[in-house]
This record gives sequence, structure tokens and C-alpha cells, in this order.
Amino acid sequence: IQRSFSSSVVRNVVIKNVTIIGGGQMGAGIAQEVAASTGHSVTLVDMTDDILKKAMKGIQGSLRRVVKKKFSDDPESGDDFIQKVMQNVSTTTNPAAAVTTSDLVVEAIVENMKIKQDLFGFLDKMAPEHTIFASNTSSLPISDMASATSRPDRCGGLHFFNPVPMMKLVEVVATSSTSPETSESLLNFTKALGKTPVCCKDTPGFIVNRLLVPYMMEALRLHERAGHGSKEDIDIAMKLGAGYPMGPFELSDYVGLDTIKFITDGWREKEPDNPLFAPSDLLNKLVAEGKLGKKSLEGFYKYNK
Ligand code: NAI
Repeated sequence: IQRSFSSSVVRNVVIKNVTIIGGGQMGAGIAQEVAASTGHSVTLVDMTDDILKKAMKGIQGSLRRVVKKKFSDDPESGDDFIQKVMQNVSTTTNPAAAVTTSDLVVEAIVENMKIKQDLFGFLDKMAPEHTIFASNTSSLPISDMASATSRPDRCGGLHFFNPVPMMKLVEVVATSSTSPETSESLLNFTKALGKTPVCCKDTPGFIVNRLLVPYMMEALRLHERAGHGSKEDIDIAMKLGAGYPMGPFELSDYVGLDTIKFITDGWREKEPDNPLFAPSDLLNKLVAEGKLGKKSLEGFYKYNK
């Protein structure tokens, strides 16, 4: 029946069934938050059962940490909570089947436009008319993904932050085609997760990364001007002088140096003359050497396992 809705009568979809495509770092975190909030059920989709098993294990481990804090005086209720949340998540390697009853699809797969477009184009044919498609992309234009579908008015961005269960912000992104009803549904959904939404346009980096990535690059350039500041001093300065919880080099290592390079390279292609997007020799060198930050145990700093 839902298939017979035309877009003009699809209004303020109340989101209950959520399909999340990609059970990696972000997808698993988003699945956890959706499953833990009242009234939602989640289907998590990835390419293999092994990946999905690992994702479910990760969710369970993360929930245990939540419960330790929240239910410290009542471990039994904590166990019940974990069980309830886990029951809300099902997994599959078949995206077509997963979206047939979906109100919202959140895409959190690899950061590659062609692959994301193929996914959106394929799911567009499988999902009911009212289903909203959202991308968790950090750096790619959502309008380009939406253009692969017949429902650009029902496409938008839901940009979560890592680690998802800890971070309260979600950037709700509207392209020039996103309908006000879609934006409202996404804003309400974000609030139902207990997160705080901010409205963004589909511009490079939205709000947070548009400010944060040039800041990290500027710290690098400052350090590259010999004698202008050691990594350690710059990190201490920003923590103690600006009140930031991490300095820019610590933060870069946490985000991943390859990710920062990927994002700035992409922006530079669009705006080659913008000095904020200029490359850094040091960043390029570290990435070429496989020193990607915390995840590879070395970036600007060294880490223990
Ligand atoms: P990840 O590499 O941890 O996870 C991606 C998952 O997607 C993998 O499990 C992979 O098997 C799966 N996948 C790839 N292609 C697929 C397909 N066609 N169908 C089904 N599953 C597929 O990546 P991560 O870090 O979770 O990032 C995912 C997205 O979230 C990217 O678009 C990224 O820009 C965005 N993002 C990442 C943040 C971060 O800090 N890592 C923060 C905010 C957004």
C-alpha cells in the first residue's frame, strides 16, 4: 500500500523501522543508539556474516560499558537493558530484503561516491515510497547520492560523530531538494535518539568538519614552519589555553591522518585556490609511510596496543 503514495502526500514520516547499511565503526554505533531508544527496531546490513557478528559483539561490549555506569547499583536491570537492546537489532547480508519495511535507511558504508550512488540507486527500487534515505558521509555531497534515486526530496544527511554512543551531536543535512517534511522527520528522529541536531546545508564539511579540519591543517602548517611550535607545545597550548579536550595533533591521530588527507584532497579539488585546503608535506609523508594515527599505533605520536 505504501508503494502507492506519491511523494506529495508523503508527510512527516514517523520513523520506527531503521535499516543501517554498513556495520563498521559508525554503522554499529548508530545501530546501538537507535536500538537503545524507545520505539525503534534496527536491521544492520553488511557484506558478510563475519563482519556482522563482529559488529554485534562490538555493540554488546559498548552496551556493557554504558550499563556499568548507568546501572551501577542495579546490575540485573542492566542485564535486562542489554538484552532488550540486542533484541531490537537484527542483521542481514541482503539489503534488498532489509529495506522493504524500512522507514529510514542510514548509509554508513565506505567513503566512495560511486559505491554510495550504486547503493542508493539499487535501494531506491526496493524501498517503499515513504522511506527516507540518509547518508552518514563526512565529506561527499549528499545531493550527488540523491541524484541516483527517484526520491531526492526524501534524501538527506544524518552525520553522526565518533564514538556515536558518546557524542551528542548529529548534523542533519538538507540538500536543495530535501523536502521540509523530510528534514522535520530527520530532526525528530535525532531527538528521539536523545541526540541534539543542528541543521546544515550540503556544503563541504557541513559545520563541524568545515571548521575542525582546516584548524588541524593550520596546526600542521604552524608546526611545519620550523621553530614556530613543537607538536607537544601546540597540543598543550590548545588544551590549556583554549580549553579543548585534545590538542590538534592528538585529535588528528584520533581521527586518522588518511581521513584528514582524503577530506582535504577532496575539498581542494573543488576549491583549488582556497589556502585553508592547501596540502601539507608532513601529512602526505606520514600517510605514505602508513603512519595513520592511533589505528596504526603511530601518527604524530606513538601508541601502545
Ligand atoms: P568502516 O570501514 O568502519 O565501516 C564501513 C563498513 O561498510 C564495513 O564494515 C564494510 O564492510 C561495509 N560496506 C562497505 N561497502 C558496503 C556495501 N556496499 N554494502 C554493505 N556494507 C558495505 O567505516 P566507518 O568509519 O564506519 O565510516 C562509514 C561512513 O561513515 C563513511 O561514509 C564515513 O565518511 C562516515 N563517517 C565516519 C566517521 C569516523 O570517524 N570514522 C565519522 C562520521 C562519519
